[in-house]
Amino acid sequence: MRVLTGIQPSGDLHIGNYFGSIKQMVDAQKSSHTFAFIANYHAMSSGNGGKKLAELTMQTATDFLSLGIDPSKSVFWVQSDVKEVLELYWILSAFTPMGLLERAHSYKDKVAKGISANHSLFSYPVLMAADILLFSPDIVPVGKDQIQHVEIARDIATKFNNEYGDILKLPEFKIEENVATVPGTDGQKMSKSYNNCINIFGEEKKQLKAIKKIVTEPVALEEPKEYENCNVYNMAKLFLEEEALIDLQNRYKRGGEGHGHFKLYLADVMWEYFREYRETREHYLNHQDEVREILKNGANKASEIAQPMMEKIRSVTGILY
Ligand code: ADP
Ligand code: TRP
Repeated sequence: MRVLTGIQPSGDLHIGNYFGSIKQMVDAQKSSHTFAFIANYHAMSSGNGGKKLAELTMQTATDFLSLGIDPSKSVFWVQSDVKEVLELYWILSAFTPMGLLERAHSYKDKVAKGISANHSLFSYPVLMAADILLFSPDIVPVGKDQIQHVEIARDIATKFNNEYGDILKLPEFKIEENVATVPGTDGQKMSKSYNNCINIFGEEKKQLKAIKKIVTEPVALEEPKEYENCNVYNMAKLFLEEEALIDLQNRYKRGGEGHGHFKLYLADVMWEYFREYRETREHYLNHQDEVREILKNGANKASEIAQPMMEKIRSVTGILY
């Protein structure tokens, strides 16, 4: 089974990203042939560019490798290192009705928010279709907001295949139903846009500061406390095994400790959980050439699939090469 996903290089990763997406990707490596790339061309559509984009690309690659993307199990590369994707993007544009893109929620939402639309924002789903269709994956794991983009890729592939035969594989999207939305410090969904994040690789002091901001019910120290709806508990349970979780529940029920104590406990648990990943990251930060080498090898492996696919596509579409 081939699984493919793209990751926007959008900055510091938070624990919502980790439990909602990165961990599934890392776990998928055990049983699937996984393909993951840093979508740096896509990042340009929201205004990223220049030195900042280059830095974000390396940062994201470093962070994903540190968190368990294993280059011996996954093909991991930077989108722009496999140029065939741009060629396919153009060819697929000829099979993309304007109406299909005009109906894209993500584009409409961004325009409604006042982001001035440029062509890359509008044609974003066509590039995403090229990313997917070039590699014929069975499954594309995505967040809910990206389902429509995978459907657009299927529509484009169908139009192409109707004209030229069964060449492009229709991908299925996959949503992890049992992955809960990780709450942010204010109890809403944790998201960069809401400024309520706890980052994975923050400094210890900053992490503690963010954890101390978690909103909790005002209950006197000696009183028993509810844990089910407590933001601190709901975050802690992501990190804890059964036994430790029951211990924590008992501390809530017993009373005599305030939410401040549970916050300190959460900070410790989280710091320990990511310890090994931090060490790996330290290594990669000091050896950025190793990261570049891994990405180049990944791009070579991805090209071995992309090139013959493009040859086939050029041949049927009459593009001489
Ligand atoms: P953000 O909302 O911070 O901008 P992104 O949209 O870049 O995050 O999300 C990247 C990935 O992380 C997506 O697959 C998304 O579903 C997942 N993700 C982000 N925030 C959460 C969260 N609070 N809970 C679960 N998954 C999340
Ligand atoms: N649009 C995706 C996102 O913002 C990133 C992405 C680009 C992607 N190309 C892809 C995801 C191909 C899956 C498959 O999260």
